Amino acid sequence: ASSLEVPVNNIPEGSEVRVLIGGKPFFIRHRTPLEIQQAEAADSEPMRDQETDDSRLVPMADGTLNRAILIVSGSCTHLGCVPVGPGSNTGDYGGWYCPCHGSHYDTSGRIRKGPAPLNLPVPTYEYSADGSSVTI
Ligand code: FES
Repeated sequence: ASSLEVPVNNIPEGSEVRVLIGGKPFFIRHRTPLEIQQAEAADSEPMRDQETDDSRLVPMADGTLNRAILIVSGSCTHLGCVPVGPGSNTGDYGGWYCPCHGSHYDTSGRIRKGPAPLNLPVPTYEYSADGSSVTI
């Protein structure tokens, strides 16, 4: 399997970096404080694929969570289109929007509306010792 080291300390707040790993898209998003707050506030709302925001974050080397950085697969769980996001259309829940058939993901990448059955998957990844990059 291929992997990629991606810096996370130079992504402007409110934007994301898109990478291809093994031909598959992944999003590395630097969430704003409001986006983090919205993700955490939604934890207790009923969802199709119930997961907490914390459970979708991989701890850094020191065991703490970097809530600002969210890393998800960029393949819509409906039929695999690549959703659009910051700078384009973040959908009704502020995360990503899949224009193929109208799936709306929240700021944790969880499916909230539309035909997609599951949240955008969180890939296996690891922070560098100083937390400045991740290897996905
Ligand atoms: Fe995304 Fe159908 S592929 S909504």
